[in-house]
Order: sequence, then structure tokens, then C-alpha cells
Amino acid sequence: MSSDWQTLAGFLLSILFILWISREFYIWRFRLRHIPGPFRDSVSCYWTLFSRGYSGQLYLWQRQQSQKYGRVFRTGPNHVITDDPDVLRRLGALRSPYIKAEWYMDITRLARGTDTTLSLSGSPHADKLHRERHALLAPTYAGRDNTSPSLEDVVDTQIQSLISYLDQKIQNANMATCDFSAVAQYFALDIISSVLWSEPFGFLRDDVDVGRYVQTMQDFLPIRAALSSLPIMPWLRPILSRLLPTPRDEAGLGKLMAAAERALHARSARLSDADGKHDPAGGGNGDMLSGMMNNMKGIRDRELFHEVIMAIVAGSDNTASALRMAMAFLVVNPPAYRRLCEEISQGVASGKISSPVVRESETRAMPYLQAVVRETLRLYPLPAEFYKQVPPEGDEVAGYHIPGGTWLGANLNSLGRRTDLWGEDADLFRPERWIEAAADETDGQGQRFRNMMNMVDLVFGSGRFQCLGKSLAYMEVTKTLAELLRHFDFAAVEPTKPLKVEGYLLWLITGQLLSVTRKRVA
Ligand code: HEM
Repeated sequence: MSSDWQTLAGFLLSILFILWISREFYIWRFRLRHIPGPFRDSVSCYWTLFSRGYSGQLYLWQRQQSQKYGRVFRTGPNHVITDDPDVLRRLGALRSPYIKAEWYMDITRLARGTDTTLSLSGSPHADKLHRERHALLAPTYAGRDNTSPSLEDVVDTQIQSLISYLDQKIQNANMATCDFSAVAQYFALDIISSVLWSEPFGFLRDDVDVGRYVQTMQDFLPIRAALSSLPIMPWLRPILSRLLPTPRDEAGLGKLMAAAERALHARSARLSDADGKHDPAGGGNGDMLSGMMNNMKGIRDRELFHEVIMAIVAGSDNTASALRMAMAFLVVNPPAYRRLCEEISQGVASGKISSPVVRESETRAMPYLQAVVRETLRLYPLPAEFYKQVPPEGDEVAGYHIPGGTWLGANLNSLGRRTDLWGEDADLFRPERWIEAAADETDGQGQRFRNMMNMVDLVFGSGRFQCLGKSLAYMEVTKTLAELLRHFDFAAVEPTKPLKVEGYLLWLITGQLLSVTRKRVA
């Protein structure tokens, strides 16, 4: 390069740097300075990057800061989060002018230039596409395309595989030890590929981390979380996108991508980079994949492929974490553990629980089981903030004016523990609070119970941004817990270190060693 070019490049870089510094300074000094929050976070995201994003402590920080600053506070130069349930519901209302912030693009995009329902963000055009895609996919995620067998029957088959898997571990011995954090993830991954394309990945069958997916995700999550804090992400996108997984990878998500690619090819979808539309004739198997192919006519093959991959990631990890945390709470709460086991054994004895697997309709009539799951979700919602972009006219949040363009995120980890909403014992795992609220006749309408339900529902997002897999997740978690405790007894192997919990954008839960014993009467 000639020295003239070097001078020009240096000059342009300096200009870009000065522009960036000026923008950050302007945002810090003028736009959001009336909103409370830690000083260093208002100046730069780098503190978040090094101290919390990478350490897995973000959720603890979110809880502490809301105690200090209240309902809304700053988490970055252009970022604020709130634990006000009314505001979080309002963001997702049908006619809400909020759109998903570019945060989604950086965090959830799996390929350069290809968006999924989750990653469509950052502009009114993307918002329009998101609305359309969300509506098209809703029937598929609700299980309407899983016809023969039904979505519930597919889940049941996998639950039976899980029971056999644990039985084999126990074999002739009276007791076995399992790492439930891994088992829950293996199980959730096998379910998701079964509901998608009628075939489990084989994690449980082979008792192996297929393609080292679980290990790779564990290594990758802290880095992903740290990168999400970078204010210069748009500049980095072209470089970082080269590091995203592909079906050609030796390990990790790429291996699961290859399995998805095979499933799509088997249905004659043309997976080219060209703008070719997929062939809907290939989607006749009565599962989610065929539903997606039939309902999303006109979508490019590449987009369909990434929609499937997103479902694998979004649909396995969160469900596994809910199962792990429910089990973690139960094994250290003997009264709750006993009460749930009693509900199950009474249900079996009175014929209100079917065999071999409890029906979903029956789990709805098991108040304590439902309470255990809601209590778990309340205490351990996802740590990510799911930032939305405030509309140009700005908004009033908890008494503060939030200017247009600000990223407003959810502080779910504080919401679930607010003593003014849940009572002085908000930090305690106490499923009874749900039973008491349901029986509370003081308002004559069950209003308190409904409010609690609406608040815990926010762990799935709200309204038009709400999780598409919510009903599948509830079905999986409630049925699986009921069946595990119908057949087995669980206890923590190491009482001083029952599990390791780190909160990145998703939970990273490891080392949950449980002893498993077969129950005498099933
Ligand atoms: C306990 C388990 C789960 C939790 C806590 C959870 C939570 C969430 C949250 C918080 C969001 C983002 C909401 C927002 O943008 O404001 C989301 C989105 C999504 N989730 Fe889930 N999820 C769970 C299970 C599942 C499952 C099992 C599936 C698929 C089978 C799934 C598929 C999706 C999809 C497709 C979206 C994107 C929806 C959209 O942007 O329109 N999730 N989920």
C-alpha cells in the first residue's frame, strides 16, 4: 500500500473513531442522563462485557441493581431495563409501536444475511416480516401440523425413552448416579428433532453428546454473551458472521445443522444459496417440518433451514433448564418434593393419571405440579434482556421519559423476586403460594391468581413477541416431571455443590449430580 493510501485509511479510521466517541458521549451526557443507573454502565458497554457478560453473573447484577435504582435503570449508553410487568406487557401489544432492537440480530442470527422469526429486528420492515412470519408459524408450533402421531404422542415416546434410559442406568443395582444437567439437555434435544422431523437426534439412545453439541455450546455461551455487550457490533458483523456454525463443521451446532439439512433434503427441499423457493410437495410427513414447508410457501430454502435450526436451539436449551431448575428446587425442598409425589401417586391410584404417560389434559388438573413449574419459571426466567427499540416519539416508563431509539429490555430476574408483587418470601421456592392464590376468594374473581399467572407468563415474552414454543415447553416440562417422579426417586449426590448455575443469555447449568432410585410401585 502506498503511503498516500495509508494516510487516507488512517484519516478515515480516525474520523470513524471520533464519530463513535461523540455519539457515545452525546447519548451519555444528554439523552438518558435523567435515568438512574451505575455511572460506568452509562458511559460504556465494555464494563458489562468484562465484568458480567463473560462471568455469567448478569442475572445477579440485574436483581441487585433494581433494588438500588428501582423499576428502571441503565445498563449501557443506550440501554435501559425494567421489571415493570405492565410496561413489559404493553411492549408486545398487537398495535405496539415498539420493534425488536438490533440486539436480536447480533445474538440470535445464525447466518449472515438470513433472518429467522427470532432474529428479524432493527427496522419497521423487519418488524412487518416478523409479524407475518410469527403468524404463519403459530399453528405449526401449536402442534396443529403434527397429525399422525400428534405432538403430544411424539413427546410421550421421548418421555418413555427417558424412563428406559434411567432404568438402564440403574439396571440391577438399586441406585444409579446421573448428571441430570446433561440428561435433561439430551432429552430436550431428542424431543425437538422428533417433533420437527420425526426422528430423535439419538442423544439418549446412544448416551452421547452428539457432535459435541452440548460441550461446544457450553464453551461458546460466555463468548456470545460478552459479544452481545459490544456497542460496535454492527461494525463487527461481517467478521463475526464468518465464525458462525455451518453444517460442514466438525463439532457443535454444525453437526445438528447437518442432520437438519439431511432431513430437509430427504423432503426434496432444495437447499441452495440461490433464491429458489422450497418445494412444498416434500412436506407431507405430518410433523413440524412439513407444517413449516406447507405454511411458509414462498420462503427461501435457506430461510426455512435457519428457521429449523433456530427452533432446535430455542426449543431445547430453555426447556432443559426449566426441568433442571425444577428438579434442583425439589430435591432440596422435601415438603414440596413429598407433596408433588403424593399428588402423582393419588392421581395414579384414582385413575386420573393415564399410563404409560400422563395426558397433558390430566396435568392441567394437577395444581401442585403446575405450581412447581410456575414457581421455577418465576425464580429462574431467562437472563437475557430481549431489548426492544423505543418508538421515535419516546415513552413513559415508571415515571421516566425514555427517548425514541433507546433500547428497553426486560429485567425478568428482578420481576420474579419483587417483594411488593410476590410477598416478603419472594425469594423462596414455595409452590403453595399458587395454591393459596387460586383459593383466595377475597376478591371473588380470582384476580390475584390471574395477576400472578400474567406475570409469570412474561418469562416467555409477551403478545406479538411471545415465545412460539410456550405450550410445547409447558407440556414437556409438566409431563416429564410427573413421569420422572412417578417412576423414580431423586436426591442430590453432593449436598454442598448440588449444581453450577451461570446466567449468560441462556442458562448454563452443569454438574447436577443426582442419585436415581426406582420406585417400588409405579
Ligand atoms: C421453558 C422454556 C422456554 C422459555 C422460558 C422460552 C422463552 C422465550 C423468550 C423469552 C422468547 C423471546 C421473547 C421476546 O422476544 O420478547 C422466546 C422466543 C421464541 N421461542 Fe421460546 N422459550 C422456551 C421454550 C421454547 C420452545 C420449546 C420452543 C420451540 C419448540 C421455543 C421457540 C421460540 C421461538 C420460535 C421464539 C421466537 C418467537 C418470535 O420472535 O416471534 N421456545 N422464547
